[in-house]
Amino acid sequence: MAGGSRDPFQSEDNELNEVSMLGHRETRRRFIKQVAGTSAAIAIGPSVLGSAAVDQSVLAAATAATSDSVKVNLDINGRKYALDVDPRVSLLDALRERLQLTGSKKGCDHGQCGACTVLVNGRRINSCLTLAVMHEGDEITTIEGLANGDELHNG
Ligand code: FES
Repeated sequence: MAGGSRDPFQSEDNELNEVSMLGHRETRRRFIKQVAGTSAAIAIGPSVLGSAAVDQSVLAAATAATSDSVKVNLDINGRKYALDVDPRVSLLDALRERLQLTGSKKGCDHGQCGACTVLVNGRRINSCLTLAVMHEGDEITTIEGLANGDELHNG
């Protein structure tokens, strides 16, 4: 039988293992190698480049007052705090990132889950939906303010 018994899965030029990408003929194996190499570079890149240096700069940026910052006096859990904050900072971010009051959680950050609930002048609000600068002089109570030492609040 001349030429009629050709196995389509074992073709000599291996047409099924070649794809045309951006005008170049690439084998599937080479393509997978390139993708794996790129993924590995992305995964290990930050540690090779020194993530400690990046973390320090992020920390410095988070704690430093910017030129656009605004002074705000907050009364939180009976203590007075004077902060320089970006006027766009939410009350939740001010509590968590500036004052390390991490009892209020950032869940959805869109006012839907309630994980960030605090009391402002006795009324509950989602602290992710309000700006810190809007609460000058307000009496703010976080979960830390409700706790009695290490006892859980049950009310
Ligand atoms: S984080 Fe979900 S309501 Fe504020």
